[in-house]
Amino acid sequence: MFKAAVITVSDKGFAGEREDKGGPLVCRMLQEAGYEIEETAIVPDEKDNIKAQLIHMADVHDCALIVTTGGTGFSPRDVTPEATEAVCHRMAPGIGEAMRAESMKVTNRAMLSRATAGIRGGSLIVNLPGSPKAIRENLEVILPALEHGLEILRGTASECAVPDKEAK
Ligand code: MTE
Repeated sequence: MFKAAVITVSDKGFAGEREDKGGPLVCRMLQEAGYEIEETAIVPDEKDNIKAQLIHMADVHDCALIVTTGGTGFSPRDVTPEATEAVCHRMAPGIGEAMRAESMKVTNRAMLSRATAGIRGGSLIVNLPGSPKAIRENLEVILPALEHGLEILRGTASECAVPDKEAK
């Protein structure tokens, strides 16, 4: 069972002006997929705050997976991808590409999410958009492949062979 952290990035959520529905939804979906939720946090759309939380969840809590929700769009306050890039040692662009490719089948506004993903030490950081609908649609796309990525990252699997039945 991998440890996961969920960070909601929202000025209104942080100020208590809007109920955080996204963070709890991410937690539920991760728990249903077998992850143990180690920590959750709500931070405002401030690059330094986001970076500090990401570093804390990775370096102090050693979470295998850190999921952010919100702040991936075009608003001048949307800086979650930039904070993520700033703390990652290696980027994992395929995760954002997969989310956008699949989400484009649902809405062409999927292209407006700048969500990214990357690796800091033994932690994989993944950005999701903020709305519950977008969270569900994006997380469903990536969850089936994440576990294998984390096994490779954490050294519990070394083979990357795709079983025939899973190959598309
Ligand atoms: N992806 C999916 N699957 N479904 C959605 O409804 N909404 C899009 C996009 N990605 C959406 C989606 C919209 S409208 C925006 S503005 C961006 O995500 C960024 O969202 P954020 O600013 O909440 O991070």
